This record gives sequence, C-alpha cells and structure tokens, in this order.
Amino acid sequence: MLLKPLVALNMLAGAVVASPDSTLHAKKARLEAYIQNEKTVALQGVLNNFGPNGSLCRGAAPGVAIAGNSETNPPYIYTWTRDTALTVMSLIGEFLEGNSSLEQLIQQYITASAKMQTVTNPSGSLSDGAGLGEPKYNINITAFNDPWGRPQRDGPALRASALIAYGNHLLAQGQQAKALDNVWPVVSNDLAYVGEYWNGTGFDLWEEVNGSSFFTTAAQYKALVEGESFATALGKPCDACTVAPEILCHLQDYWNGTAVISNYPTNGRSGVDINSVITSITIFDPAATCDDATFQPCSARALANHKVLIDGFRSTYGVNKGREPGEAAAVGRYTEDIFMGGNPWYLATLASAEQLYDALYQWDRQGSLSVTELSLPFFRDLVANVKTGVYPKSTRGYKTITDAVRSYADGFISVVREYTPTHGGLSEEYHRDTGVQVSAPDLTWSYASFLTAIARRNGSVPPSWSSSVALTFPQKCNPTTVKGAYATATPSPW
Ligand SMILES: *[C@@H]1O[C@H](CO)[C@@H](O)[C@H](O)[C@H]1NC(C)=O
Ligand SMILES: *[C@@H]1O[C@H](CO)[C@@H](O)[C@H](O)[C@H]1NC(C)=O
Ligand SMILES: *[C@@H]1O[C@H](CO)[C@@H](O)[C@H](O)[C@H]1NC(C)=O
Ligand SMILES: *[C@@H]1O[C@H](CO)[C@@H](O)[C@H](O)[C@H]1NC(C)=O
Ligand SMILES: *[C@@H]1O[C@H](CO)[C@@H](O)[C@H](O)[C@H]1NC(C)=O
Ligand SMILES: *[C@@H]1O[C@H](CO)[C@@H](O)[C@H](O)[C@H]1NC(C)=O
Ligand SMILES: *[C@@H]1O[C@H](CO)[C@@H](O)[C@H](O)[C@H]1NC(C)=O
Repeated sequence: MLLKPLVALNMLAGAVVASPDSTLHAKKARLEAYIQNEKTVALQGVLNNFGPNGSLCRGAAPGVAIAGNSETNPPYIYTWTRDTALTVMSLIGEFLEGNSSLEQLIQQYITASAKMQTVTNPSGSLSDGAGLGEPKYNINITAFNDPWGRPQRDGPALRASALIAYGNHLLAQGQQAKALDNVWPVVSNDLAYVGEYWNGTGFDLWEEVNGSSFFTTAAQYKALVEGESFATALGKPCDACTVAPEILCHLQDYWNGTAVISNYPTNGRSGVDINSVITSITIFDPAATCDDATFQPCSARALANHKVLIDGFRSTYGVNKGREPGEAAAVGRYTEDIFMGGNPWYLATLASAEQLYDALYQWDRQGSLSVTELSLPFFRDLVANVKTGVYPKSTRGYKTITDAVRSYADGFISVVREYTPTHGGLSEEYHRDTGVQVSAPDLTWSYASFLTAIARRNGSVPPSWSSSVALTFPQKCNPTTVKGAYATATPSPW
C-alpha cells in the first residue's frame, strides 16, 4: 500500500526505482534467506532444550526436554508430555528426511517415556493407567506434585503417535525385534489409556478448560487408527483401537456449521481457537482427500474455520493494524486470551501457515481443488472473483488459486520473520502492540513448529496414517470405552 507514494517520490527525485516485480522478488529472497538461517537456529534451539547434552537443559534426563528457557513467570523448567511428543514428532520428520544423527535422541526419548509411564503422580499410577494422563513432570522424571490442570488426555495419544512413527521406521528397516521389545510396550500402555479414558473430561492443550477439547479428541482418534496398523504389523492385538469410530463420531460434535468450537464447555469464550488449526496439522494425512470428517487441512471445514479464526485476530492485536482479510496476520491462541497479556504466539502463527502448505500438498497430490459454498469465503479473500467449482490441476484457475494460497501461507512466515530478533531465538509470544518478544525465551514448541512448517513448505510430509480407510462412524455416537491392561515397559539398551 505504501508502494505507490514511494514510487512517485523516487521518480520526482530521479532515483532508480524498484519495479513492483523486483520489490516482490526482494521480499521473496529475504524470506528464503530468513528460512534458511532460522531452520538451523530452530533445530539447534530444540536440541539445546533436551537432556542430557543440551546447553539449556539444566540437567534434564536423557530424552527429556524442558518446555522453555524460563525459571519463573512462566516456570517452564518442567517437561510436558504433549510439548515433547509434538517436538519429537518434528525431529522424527528431520530424521526420516535423512538426518541420522537425531536417532539417538529419539531412542532416548522412548526410554525416558517408558520410565515416565511408571511414575506415580497426582493423576494416578500405571496400575489402572490413570497416571498416564498427568501433563507435566520434573525434568529428572519424578512427579510434579503441586496443583495443576490435570489430567490432560492428549499426552498419551501424542506420545503413541510419535513412537509409532519411529516404530514404523524400524519395521521398514527390518528391525521387527526392536519395534516389538522397545517401542510396542510403551505404545500399548498409551493406546490402552486412550481406549479407556477418551470419554472422560480433562484439561485442554492450553491447560485452562476442564471438559472436552477438539485437539485431544482428534489426537486420540489418530493414535488409535495408526495404533491398530502398528499392532497388526507386530502381530499384537489392540482392544483399545476398536473404539476409534466412536471417537471420530464424537469429533463431529465440535463443528457448529461455520467454525470449530474447540472446547466444551466454552467457559464464556467463542470457542474459536488455534486449537483447531493445530489439530488439522497434527492429523494431516498426506494421502487423504479433503475429508471434512477428519478436518483435513484442505477440507472445506478446516479452510472455512481458518478464515474465521484468523479474522478474529485482525482487530485484536495492534500489530495487525492494516493487515486486511486475505493478508497474513499475527495469530495467537484465541482472542479472549489474557495469559502474559494476551499476545500472538509463534507456534500459532506458524501453524496457520502450515495448514495451508498441507492443503497445497493435498491438492497437488489429488490433481484438483474444490471451492465449495463453505470454503468460498476463505478463497474469496485471496482471489476476489473466484467461483465455486472443481479446478483441475491443468487449469489456469488452479494455478491462480494455489499461487495465492501459497503466498498467503508465506505471509505468515513473513510475519514471524518480522518479529524474530536478529539472534533468531523464538520465545513463546511476541507483544500484541509492539511485536517485542514476551514470555519464555527459547520455547521448545516454538522451534518445533518452525521445523514442521518449513518442512511442509518444502514438500516434506509425514507418512500417511491411513485416515481414509477408517472414515466410517456410527450415526448415533456412543460413549463406549475399553478397560485397559497396563504393564511396565522396559526397553533394552538400543
Ligand atoms: C542434523 O542434526 C544435527 C544435530 O544432531 C544438526 O547439528 C545438523 O545441523 C542437522 N543437519 C541438518 C542438515 O539439518
Ligand atoms: C551426549 O554427549 C555424550 C558425550 O559427548 C555423547 O557420547 C552422546 O552421544 C551425546 N548424546 C546425544 C543424544 O547427543
Ligand atoms: C528431582 O527434581 C525435583 C525437582 O527439582 C527435586 O525436588 C528432587 O529432589 C529430584 N529428585 C531426584 C531423585 O533427583
Ligand atoms: C462421551 O461420549 C459421548 C458420545 O460421543 C459424548 O456425547 C460426550 O460428549 C463424551 N464426553 C467426553 C467428555 O468426551
Ligand atoms: C473437571 O470436571 C469434572 C466433570 O465435571 C469434575 O468431576 C472434575 O472434578 C473437574 N476437575 C477439576 C480439577 O476441576
Ligand atoms: C458457530 O461459531 C461461529 C464462531 O463463533 C459463530 O460466528 C456462528 O454463529 C456459530 N454458528 C452457529 C450455528 O451457532
Ligand atoms: C528443502 O528440500 C531440499 C531438497 O530436499 C533441501 O535440499 C533443502 O535443504 C530443504 N530446505 C529446507 C529449508 O528445509
């Protein structure tokens, strides 16, 4: 918007002016340079927070990550099951793309997870599985005994998914025994937990709402679907996995026709929450079609929801002044957030980009994209005259739309770039009015979300979890659960 007056002024002064094309080119070059550099910072940032060797790990046990580099306000020298599982998932992505030096840490994480499962804590113990729902531990793998929002029922599901990702790699390498002895016993406990407790209330990923959380339900569904395949490959039964269709049925309850309502109860909020976008990227299946039932990144539901969510932040944050619909913006957790002053988060802004990169991958693989009544408002912000219909890959319309989506996605990375200090470190948040970093520096999850967003941008995606073979669910949902069997897992040395 500043371009026109600037060009005019420069012309008056007789200066050589950049054409809009070369300005765009310079902007793109700046972004690519940032990404290249920040990728190294982000990977190192993750590794710094892991025990035993990370420079910021403060003596954390091997395979255990601190949440962030902050002793107090907020106190993040603890380890969270969710944050670590998502982070290890990003490391497994880097590992599967060829960085074999990460394997030792992944294995240490599995060994640490086995030990953590045995720790009796305020949520309970392993004997009936209830202890697996404990959200956080001391970094020496002992119980955190102070009051907290517990249980949080996404942790075991996410940990199972991370372990299965590595377990499937072992199977592909012909290392059946290692998968069976070291990975399956940990996974089996976590799957049993999901099957037994998915229908209980718990705290959401922001540790605030006690009830049902969209992210938790979706993570549970994915874990049981891939758990079933993993169990089958190992010749093991998975009784818990039989409730997957009921969880998928329950997942539909969060869709209100316009947007995902991420929490029940909503506790006086709208329920529109980045929870929903983080869900789409977590249950992203590169081989899926644009299924609404699993809220795949390219689904009409997920795209419609993306617009509703992002638009909510435009008028919430001072830094978003002038960022109109269709332009990327700074994104936080939910507009009513007041934690640390209520600010945009790096991981939220990066997830907003990642969903779109995932969608681009899915359209490309499918060979077409559809604009429906539901997704039209999302697309119309990017391509003003777009109409509903199917756009095959060979058409000019497909190219126009996907170019616009890609540049919209890149815009979110540019927002992150704008608020990244020169040292490249990523804290939890950046200030709603000034863009200056707020809350814990070196947040493990911020770095992990940078790695996954950039991997997807680069066309690197996780293996399929076969979401499409499991899409049926009953007409009427039932709260069916399966009593679990739990046993101490004792992985052998790797
Ligand atoms: C691979 O991981 C190591 C840490 O184990 C890191 O130092 C290195 O930069 C990574 N390589 C690439 C290409 O990302
Ligand atoms: C930690 O450092 C030790 C000693 O240098 C080394 O043997 C080990 O491989 C390192 N562990 C990881 C996970 O990098
Ligand atoms: C583990 O860490 C906690 C919290 O820092 C500490 O209170 C406890 O003494 C430690 N336990 C062991 C066995 O080191
Ligand atoms: C339990 O399942 C029923 C049936 O799907 C659902 O209506 C209810 O909301 C679920 N409760 C929780 C806490 O998951
Ligand atoms: C969470 O909600 C459930 C069901 O309403 C209730 O039984 C439980 O005590 C609540 N937990 C906390 C910590 O408030
Ligand atoms: C669904 O939620 C959105 C976002 O809060 C709201 O605008 C819309 O009115 C809701 N739709 C229904 C049918 O309640
Ligand atoms: C993108 O992928 C290419 C080819 O696999 C690789 O060489 C490059 O390092 C990747 N870039 C980033 C930023 O990951």
